[in-house]
Amino acid sequence: EKGGYDHFMLKEIYEQPRAIKDTYRGRLLADEGIVRMAGIDQNMERFLNANRIIIVACGTSWHAGLVAEYIFEDLARIPVEVEYASEFRYRNPVITENDVLIAISQSGETADTLAAIKMAKEKGAFVFGVCNVVGSSIARETHAGAYTHAGPEIGVASTKAFTTQITVLTLIALKLAKEKGSLSEAEFHGYLTELEGIPAKVEKALESNALIETIATEYKDSTNCLYLGRGYNFPVALEGALKLKEISYIHAEGYPAAEMKHGPIALIDEEMPVVVIATRKGHYEKVVSNIQEIKSRSGRIIAVVTEGDESVKELADHVVEVPETSEPLTPLLTTIPLQLLSYHIALMRGCNVDQPRNLAKSVTVE
Ligand code: F6R
Repeated sequence: EKGGYDHFMLKEIYEQPRAIKDTYRGRLLADEGIVRMAGIDQNMERFLNANRIIIVACGTSWHAGLVAEYIFEDLARIPVEVEYASEFRYRNPVITENDVLIAISQSGETADTLAAIKMAKEKGAFVFGVCNVVGSSIARETHAGAYTHAGPEIGVASTKAFTTQITVLTLIALKLAKEKGSLSEAEFHGYLTELEGIPAKVEKALESNALIETIATEYKDSTNCLYLGRGYNFPVALEGALKLKEISYIHAEGYPAAEMKHGPIALIDEEMPVVVIATRKGHYEKVVSNIQEIKSRSGRIIAVVTEGDESVKELADHVVEVPETSEPLTPLLTTIPLQLLSYHIALMRGCNVDQPRNLAKSVTVE
C-alpha cells in the first residue's frame, strides 16, 4: 500500500508530479488557451463582482491560502484576505453579500473551517470549497467548489495536498484574470504552458533527495531552525517550518526574510540552521543580502536556489537547486526540498514520520 516506499509521507512527496497533473487534467487546456472549471463558470458573476475574496483555512491549507493571496492579487487584481478559520469565526468579522469566501481543506472535515463556512453563508457570502476528500462535510456545505484530486493523503504531514491546493487556486486565479483582462493574452498563455510543465520540474526537484539526505545528517540534532522567504516564497517558509516541527519535533519558525532584522536575527549563532529560499525571481538581491547578514553572524545556511545560481553558492553552506519557472509558480518547486528535508531529519531522529505524536489527520473538534 506504500507502493514500495518506507512511509506514506515519502510516497506522497513522490506522487506530486502525478497529483498535480491529476489536478489540472481536463481543466488546463493550454493548446486551446482555456481553463475549464464548471464551479467557477457557473458563478462567474459572483467572483467578478466580489468586493474581495476571503480565504479561510487551518495549518498547511492556510499556507496554501497565503500563496493564493499573492497569486490572486498579482494576476487577477482581486483583493484577498487570508484568515485562520478559528480566529475568523469568533471575531465577529465584517461579511457582506458581495464577499466570496474560499475555504481550503484537505480532509473537508476541519471543525473550525466548517464553522467559518456556516457563518459566512448566514451572512449571505458566496462560499467556494477547495477540498481533497470527495463528498466531505466542507464539500457538501459550500455553494460550489473544485476538488484537488490529489488522491488519498495518509501521512499526517500534508504534502501533495498543499501543492495540489496551490495548483487549483492558480487555475482559478488564471481563469478570473482571463475573464477580467488583467493579464495580456500572451501572459495568460505563458502561465498555462508553464503550469503544464510543472510536474516535470517537480520531478527534477525530487532528484535532490540524496543531497538533502546528506544535509539532514548534519542538522538532525539541531534544537531550532529558522526558515526565511519573501513574496511568493514567504508562505513556503512558513510551511517548511511547520513540516519540520510537526514530524521531527525540532522547534522551527518561518519568517518573511526582511523581518529577520526586527527580532529573529538575535537568535543567529553557529548553532542555528537557517533555511533560505532564494530563487532568482522574487527579490533575489534582497534575499542575498539577508544571507550575507546570517553569514556574518556565523549562522548555518541551507539555501534553495534556481538551477545554475552562482552567487548564493559562495555564501551558503549548502545549496539545493530547483528548476527555473515563472515567479507565481515557484512555491510548487521550492516546497519540495523542504518536505524532503523534514522527512529525512525526522527519520534520523527516530520519529514516527507518518503519525507524529499528538496530531490527527483530520481535526474534527475545535
Ligand atoms: C500539517 C497538517 C495540518 C492540516 C490542518 C488543516 O501538515 O496536516 O496543519 O493542514 O489540520 O487540515 P485540512 O486541510 O484537512 O482542513
